[in-house]
Amino acid sequence: MTTQTGLPLFVLGRSADPHSEKGVDCPGELPPASDPGLVERARKAKAALGDRLFVLGHHYQRDEVIQFADVTGDSFKLARQAAARPEAEFIVFCGVHFMAESADILTSGDQKVILPDLAAGCSMADMATFDQVEECWEALEDAGLAEQVIPVTYMNSSADIKAFCGRNGGAVCTSSNARRALDWAFERGGKVLFLPDQHLGRNTAVLEMGMSLDDCVVWNPHRPNGGLTPEELERARMILWRGHCSVHGRFTAESVDDVRSRVPGVNVLVHPECRHEVVLKADHVGSTEHIIKTLESAPAGSSWAVGTELNLVKRLAQTFPDKEISFLDRTVCYCSTMNRIDLPHLVWALESLVIGEVVNQITVDEDTTHWAKVALDRMLALP
Ligand code: 13P
Ligand code: SF4
Repeated sequence: MTTQTGLPLFVLGRSADPHSEKGVDCPGELPPASDPGLVERARKAKAALGDRLFVLGHHYQRDEVIQFADVTGDSFKLARQAAARPEAEFIVFCGVHFMAESADILTSGDQKVILPDLAAGCSMADMATFDQVEECWEALEDAGLAEQVIPVTYMNSSADIKAFCGRNGGAVCTSSNARRALDWAFERGGKVLFLPDQHLGRNTAVLEMGMSLDDCVVWNPHRPNGGLTPEELERARMILWRGHCSVHGRFTAESVDDVRSRVPGVNVLVHPECRHEVVLKADHVGSTEHIIKTLESAPAGSSWAVGTELNLVKRLAQTFPDKEISFLDRTVCYCSTMNRIDLPHLVWALESLVIGEVVNQITVDEDTTHWAKVALDRMLALP
């Protein structure tokens, strides 16, 4: 099985060298993580590149990397920021593959988007392949339903899935604007095919838009006809793709009960990629930007259990020491692919640029770019 980047899933361990796995020679030495000069080297390389360089960092990145980001943000903010920097020749994206693809789609042809480690994919994005989605669409056409279906894909999907949505009258959404994107979609059709995160789709439809669980069905790409009967498809308003985040999907309703029993008065704050039963039990739900803003404005002395990626939760606990901030479930770990981007890879990418070598450039072909941009622009134009 391969990931969106075409790499076998088993290379995700930190010790694997993604370049040799791909059969591509690493054009230069990857500095050892133990090199005490790495911070200084990154600073020097950044200074040498000056305004030619723009570094974007997703909130789930390691501290050692995020310190070099010119802008930090959630997927939505970073997509906007990438589009707003036409003067930067190089955009180094400290995040995962689908984010770098989106940045390439939204930037001009002269700008180069670089992902410091090509093995930084996303298991959720890998759960919806183009062929599977095409097969699903053909089944909807055969059932005479495709005309009423608007495809909406979460940002966490490959460029060709975004392009599929653009071509078929649909849009992209992020966790910050899923509700608005679904309102937009239901103004245009009676049903939505929501890709690839079933949890974000279900949580938005049921908790924000007042639909019932019966309005939602789950399309399983590994079963004939998605494992659904024609009647189930006919009745459904939300056709949810059977995909999930392998980090957020691990928080459980029991972890919410457990923290409530241990910490009286605790506020539970989770990301909408969490399972429906977890979100139902939480006090607040929102994207990573929303989580940060909620904690920023929380009163001193308040207690919070946060269900999102661990790098961010640790950083928030350090940033707001006047609040008691803990991780919702101690058995859930970091996003291993976000963590692929470490200081050695960042230094390697930046120093390569300084000597005129563009490494790990992410490029999306012209036709895919065109249609994916249609879907992304529909999202960016949402009120
Ligand atoms: P946001 O950045 O949109 O909140 O998404 C979280 C996530 O899982 C990114 O991979
Ligand atoms: Fe993908 Fe989840 Fe990691 Fe985000 S946190 S990159 S959705 S696996």
